[in-house]
Amino acid sequence: MPKIPNSAVNGVITGWGRALPEKVVTNADLAKTLDTSDEWIIERTGIERRHIGGSTASLSIESGRKAIEMSGVDPSTIDALILSTTTPDRTVPATSAAVQHGLGLRCGAFDVNAACSGFVYALVAGHGLLAIGLKRVLIIGTDTLSRITDWTDRNTAILFADGSGAAVLESVDGPGQLLGWDIDADGSLEDLLYAEIGGTLKMEGKEVFRRAVRIMVDSAEKSLAAAGLTSNDITLVAPHQANVRIIEAACKRLNIPMSKVSWVGNESGNTSSASIPLALFEAADTNRLKTGDNVLLVGFGAGMTAASAIIKWKQP
Ligand code: UT7
Repeated sequence: MPKIPNSAVNGVITGWGRALPEKVVTNADLAKTLDTSDEWIIERTGIERRHIGGSTASLSIESGRKAIEMSGVDPSTIDALILSTTTPDRTVPATSAAVQHGLGLRCGAFDVNAACSGFVYALVAGHGLLAIGLKRVLIIGTDTLSRITDWTDRNTAILFADGSGAAVLESVDGPGQLLGWDIDADGSLEDLLYAEIGGTLKMEGKEVFRRAVRIMVDSAEKSLAAAGLTSNDITLVAPHQANVRIIEAACKRLNIPMSKVSWVGNESGNTSSASIPLALFEAADTNRLKTGDNVLLVGFGAGMTAASAIIKWKQP
């Protein structure tokens, strides 16, 4: 991807929010109905429990409201809402319409579907809107994968879950946070992970795993090059929380120690569009980030999509 022109209006995240459904499902709960075990799931994925419930709109409204409150912006001044989701509540209209209404916003609203890479796609699109004149964009990544999971399939049921993360992005004069970015997709691989309309997720797990590592590394390297940085300059990685072994393999190739990774998948499983913001804002909320840190967001997903971004953290 091209370097960001110095003349481009950039942005910063000024508020964020997270939402997880109340209901917790442990590995032991799954093992009651599936031929699996707590030990196997932890060893092969790192996941210990996940949250299940709610709708994409309700979780988005919860995380979006927290982000707006934290930023202190007047909701009537938000210029656009981008909702990243691969599990919309309805086929028509976009779920962002219900979220916009629920949050009392009056602005352009649209959904982005790039599966688990979607939050980074939305972040990049949001910066694009700032570059052409908008001042404030609300970005939300939400998925309710439990609604399209086959709970009798141990290949997928152990992984997927529900959640949401949101950010208020505001334009700034002078240097902003986005240093480099990359978005990619290879539609020839769509059959590796898909759900028909009204159907459940089907996945070739091993093949997704193998390709995921490669495309996360490729995408991260492109963003690093665009930002003029090396992996040594990265302070924190907020990767897609699919499987801790995928993250370990990708970070090893990138030469980034796991101590720099925010891993929340043990608590929340694979929440697709929500997983990168959940990891990023968990790190922010637990004081793992300070102004000036270079943060790598990187994900992959059905499509197969990939996306990464490097942001220079600015503590609000
Ligand atoms: O957002 C993107 C979403 N998707 C992904 O990121 C998925 C990527 N793939 C994965 O995370 C992993 O491939 C899985 C977690 C799905 C599977 O882990 P794996 O280490 O690739 O296991 P495997 O398929 O190679 O299976 C190893 C063994 C097999 O038994 P045998 O043939 O060695 O006797 C499986 O039958 O483990 C068995 N197995 C299970 N055992 C207990 C497969 N799934 C399970 C299970 N519980 N849930």
